[in-house]
Amino acid sequence: MRSIGDRRQRGEVRAPAMTEQKVAVVTGASSGIGAATARRLADEGFEVVLTARRTERIEALAKEIEGRGGTARAVTLDVTDRAAVDAFAAGVGRVDVLVNNAGGAVGAETVEHGDPADWRAMYEVNVLGVLHVTQALLPALRATGDGTVLVLSSTAALAAYEGGGGYVAAKHAAHTIAATLRLELCGEPIRVIEIAPGMVKSEGFAITRFRGDEEKAAAVYAGVAEPLTSEDVADTVAWAVTRPSHVNIDLLVVRPRAQAANHKVHRG
Ligand SMILES: NC(=O)c1ccc[n+]([C@@H]2O[C@H](COP(=O)([O-])OP(=O)(O)OC[C@H]3O[C@@H](n4cnc5c(N)ncnc54)[C@H](OP(=O)(O)O)[C@@H]3O)[C@@H](O)[C@H]2O)c1
Repeated sequence: MRSIGDRRQRGEVRAPAMTEQKVAVVTGASSGIGAATARRLADEGFEVVLTARRTERIEALAKEIEGRGGTARAVTLDVTDRAAVDAFAAGVGRVDVLVNNAGGAVGAETVEHGDPADWRAMYEVNVLGVLHVTQALLPALRATGDGTVLVLSSTAALAAYEGGGGYVAAKHAAHTIAATLRLELCGEPIRVIEIAPGMVKSEGFAITRFRGDEEKAAAVYAGVAEPLTSEDVADTVAWAVTRPSHVNIDLLVVRPRAQAANHKVHRG
């Protein structure tokens, strides 16, 4: 089936009419789930602000989105750099939706053998990154009178698995940010949504985890007929953020059919 973007290019569909175009900021939009989410939110009629450290990639994606009739801006941003995040927030303008997607795993060692530097790096991006960007953009989200904060956590945010210690700990913390913020903002016009995907065969996740070792990265998905794709996750993000304003999807867990739990994967 052709994408909404393709069909819009052919004049078959139009972006949903928004009186003023809503703006969605996506962190980690240079790859995988973040890039797919940016494309999809643009198709839904949002102006998308693409952020990541790899400038060339987000600039190319912004061009691609503009080429298919969407609106996009690319802004280089490392979410672990608080000063850079504050400068970004000062210049971004209107923000209706924040998708906290930047993150990932480094290493698959046991707790006994894990490198504290890897644990620290995972905490910096998956936890403090979410904290930095959310804190910095809350005033803008509040100012719209109808803001949405989304945290892309993981099923690692909900249960442990062997060799996942540092990532599991970081994603549990990201889950806790979402849960706490939802309580603290109750009564304000801001939704807090958490999407927790299981196994996604995205562009970079396994490669980053295994430090560029393509063989080890490929083994993660070996024999799994259909892991989730980045587009599957983008679909759940788009669905969750386009519900009516009073509907808050607190926590949505999405896994491939072949994965019944973090450690229970059917391999053919
Ligand atoms: N793949 C899975 O199985 C899976 C499952 C559940 C949850 N997730 C989560 O989904 C999110 C996206 O992962 P993915 O699978 O799409 O992996 P990916 O293809 O490796 O994408 C990771 C993205 O995060 C960005 N990023 C990393 N560190 C950053 C930093 N310090 N500042 C800004 N951006 C940074 C990267 O951009 P730059 O390198 O250009 O900065 C990249 O765009 C992550 O939070 C991941 O933990 C993935």
